[in-house]
Amino acid sequence: MSMASFSVIAATLLVTAGNVAATSDFGVQSVGKLPVLGFNTWNAFQCNIDQDIMLQQASLMKSLGLQAAGYNYINIDDCYAEKNRTASGDIQEDKIRFSRGMRNLTDTLHAQGFKAGIYGDAGWTTCGGYPGSYSHEEADAKTFREKWGFDYLKYDNCAIPFDNITQEGTYGRYKRMSDAIQNLAKRSHKLPMIFSLCDWGWQQVNLWGAEFGQSWRTTGDIAPNWDSLAHIININSFIASSTHFYGHNDLDMLQLGNGNMTYEESKSHFTVWALMKSPLFIGTNLSSITPEILGILKNKDILAINQDPVWGEGITPFRWGINPDWTFNATHPAEYWSGRSQNGTVVMMLNSQNVEAEMSFNLTESAWIRAGRQYKVYDLWAHTQTEIAVRSITKRVPPHGVVAMLLSDAGQEPAGLYPACSVWWQCTSITGERVGG
Ligand SMILES: *[C@@H]1O[C@H](CO)[C@@H](O)[C@H](O)[C@H]1NC(C)=O
Ligand SMILES: *[C@@H]1O[C@H](CO)[C@@H](O)[C@H](O)[C@H]1NC(C)=O
Ligand SMILES: *[C@@H]1O[C@H](CO)[C@@H](O)[C@H](O)[C@H]1NC(C)=O
Ligand SMILES: *[C@@H]1O[C@H](CO)[C@@H](O)[C@H](O)[C@H]1NC(C)=O
Ligand SMILES: *[C@@H]1O[C@H](CO)[C@@H](O)[C@H](O)[C@H]1NC(C)=O
Ligand SMILES: *[C@@H]1O[C@H](CO)[C@@H](O)[C@H](O)[C@H]1NC(C)=O
Ligand SMILES: *[C@@H]1O[C@H](CO)[C@@H](O)[C@H](O)[C@H]1NC(C)=O
Ligand SMILES: *[C@@H]1O[C@H](CO)[C@@H](O)[C@H](O)[C@H]1NC(C)=O
Repeated sequence: MSMASFSVIAATLLVTAGNVAATSDFGVQSVGKLPVLGFNTWNAFQCNIDQDIMLQQASLMKSLGLQAAGYNYINIDDCYAEKNRTASGDIQEDKIRFSRGMRNLTDTLHAQGFKAGIYGDAGWTTCGGYPGSYSHEEADAKTFREKWGFDYLKYDNCAIPFDNITQEGTYGRYKRMSDAIQNLAKRSHKLPMIFSLCDWGWQQVNLWGAEFGQSWRTTGDIAPNWDSLAHIININSFIASSTHFYGHNDLDMLQLGNGNMTYEESKSHFTVWALMKSPLFIGTNLSSITPEILGILKNKDILAINQDPVWGEGITPFRWGINPDWTFNATHPAEYWSGRSQNGTVVMMLNSQNVEAEMSFNLTESAWIRAGRQYKVYDLWAHTQTEIAVRSITKRVPPHGVVAMLLSDAGQEPAGLYPACSVWWQCTSITGERVGG
């Protein structure tokens, strides 16, 4: 499609969506579809949650500057409900831990400028054994949205009924809740809740998740250690191109500083998740967060790329590194990645080894680099321009560490470089002679 015809469609979308903020042809695609940023209780608190912890963490989101950095959702995960529904079949909040009622909590969060998220399940019960929404989808969507005032629903995949009852796959069970959310929105003339599929990657969800949701989980639960991160990165490297403005592979909630994660590992964790355009949910206990971890979460340059209004795709691998390209390996995932952004080409080098490594790439290995040009290199962690790169970049990278850079065109490369082409084995003069190395 030409830019000109795209502009016409874009202008139509602009009117339909009532959005006046778009500044570029592609920007309008992003309406409501950038990765969601926020806080979720699970990784730090599991089931030890109540209304006071929620408000305390929300207040820390403000005072620590995380809300100002863009993290505007406060989400409750599992274990907020009574084990039984009411006599009339309604799901109910835990009467002791949420004694003031969910509406009181969401009203308070909304008054503080946050959006609020809740959790449910596509089966009989949640993973923690609380009521699931199977066969209660319409009623529960109404409870979550209208009675309780939530803006976002994370929907888990535990305790699914027998096949002779569901007559559906994962797709069909998630469609039931998606339909309930959409029907409710139509009836009430209010925006639907954002639907986040916590399906653990079942049944190729990356191929259909966007029909229902804003994001879809691609793996089982993340654990706070490097092995788990490497495993998640490996799987997602093969489906990275499923992410765009229409929806996002969800690499699961952040574990920065948790468990035995080192500082470098936490930095790599955040960098990969953000640049792959995953939703970013802080899973660190904010009452005891360290300045180092806070600094990672507030990296403006990295967050800006996660929230890029112009390019919806995430970074994808251009070379696997340790192993041959396309090797599926849970301990040594792809190490060399790149993608487009509003301000240039993003390149990430990830050291999957337990020792420091010298890592190097030729600029034109990335599809977004032009041959014959040199590039300004801006370090997305040092927040400074480090060099003008000609042909290649080499860096020392700590064990399990990362280097993330933004490359922007700095004019024609110096004359007389050898070989004359970056694709040297094809380099040909106009008279048909091979002139490469
Ligand atoms: C969160 O951190 C606070 C302050 O260190 C601590 O008192 C509390 O027990 C922590 N909560 C959990 C669930 O670890
Ligand atoms: C909750 O439901 C279970 C199973 O239906 C029932 O055995 C139990 O008595 C109920 N508990 C309460 C407090 O109603
Ligand atoms: C929440 O409940 C408390 C205690 O009843 C009350 O003081 C407060 O005003 C309520 N907040 C909202 C936003 O309703
Ligand atoms: C459905 O499957 C379950 C488990 O196999 C079985 O116990 C039940 O009788 C079946 N129900 C019907 C209606 O076939
Ligand atoms: C971190 O924890 C994981 C899981 O408990 C374990 O497999 C791994 O060896 C630990 N790593 C270090 C460096 O202690
Ligand atoms: C591009 O640069 C502008 C100006 O510094 C900045 O406001 C914007 O957030 C950047 N966009 C991305 C995607 O990094
Ligand atoms: C993963 O890759 C490493 C490095 O090549 C190799 O030593 C290891 O055996 C591979 N693991 C599996 C399960 O193939
Ligand atoms: C980088 O380019 C040089 C030639 O300038 C070539 O020898 C080398 O194989 C290239 N490396 C990769 C990974 O493409």
